[in-house]
Amino acid sequence: MTEFLHNNNQLRKIAKLIASSKYCVAFTGAGVSVESGIPPFRGEGGLWNRYDPQTLELGYFFEQPDKSWEVIREIFYNFFGKVDPNKAHLVLADWENRGLVKALITQNIDNLHQQSGSKEVYDFHGNAMRLVCVVCESYVSIEDAELSVLPPRCKGCTGLLKPDFIFFGEGIPQLAYSKSVEAASQCDLMLIIGTAGEVSPANQIPIIAKNKGAVIVEINLEPSAYTNRITDYYLSGKAGEIMPQLDALIKECA
Ligand code: APR
Repeated sequence: MTEFLHNNNQLRKIAKLIASSKYCVAFTGAGVSVESGIPPFRGEGGLWNRYDPQTLELGYFFEQPDKSWEVIREIFYNFFGKVDPNKAHLVLADWENRGLVKALITQNIDNLHQQSGSKEVYDFHGNAMRLVCVVCESYVSIEDAELSVLPPRCKGCTGLLKPDFIFFGEGIPQLAYSKSVEAASQCDLMLIIGTAGEVSPANQIPIIAKNKGAVIVEINLEPSAYTNRITDYYLSGKAGEIMPQLDALIKECA
């Protein structure tokens, strides 16, 4: 049964769990980037309340690349270069540096974990920092891409450029998938931060950790698909506030 923790003494329990874990893995979703200014997909202010997820269907992208790219640019690229990692990202990168977190699996494509210094990051849904040509499969960094004319075309073969993140109906990047399953299978503690847990197969990763005996700690503003199912400890609140609190408690009991 999920234990809902609220006060500092209870948070101390989680701080001790993290500090004493042998292989802690973080699993993050859009909620970890909300305090950086990137809206979530679902719930209050969610992107899917304003945009039709169909624009991120692979078939639609190939049928209507110009229309699809207009929405993609508005949703994912208009914020690029204007948002920074928040305290939750920075604490996770620091915990990796200190050996407290061994790997970070993210559903996010915003590259904010990498920007904050996390290195062992598995981009389960790809990464928006790269575009890929659907014809010659060459990559273009977003810095070098020209998005004033849509859809962007490959300079080498004039093929259609696609963001290097997965669309609905597209397979998960193989390396990220296998690394994520491997990390979930060997972790003794999984921190689930800012995800509703509604999108498969990403939402199966914490289930693998649970089935292998990991303790599951969840940080979220509201209960998710994991709460009262696999979550052992639920910390209610903003990731950008709870993570620094946990960090301070870890340093206190060090
Ligand atoms: N701190 C912690 N959690 C937060 C915060 C915050 N500041 N703000 C929002 N949340 C929580 C919400 O309560 C919600 O549970 O983050 C979660 C965001 O849920 P979604 O928007 O569904 O994001 P996510 O679970 O990552 O979506 C998974 O769906 O559309 C696809 O590919 C897309 O990767 C995405 C996938």
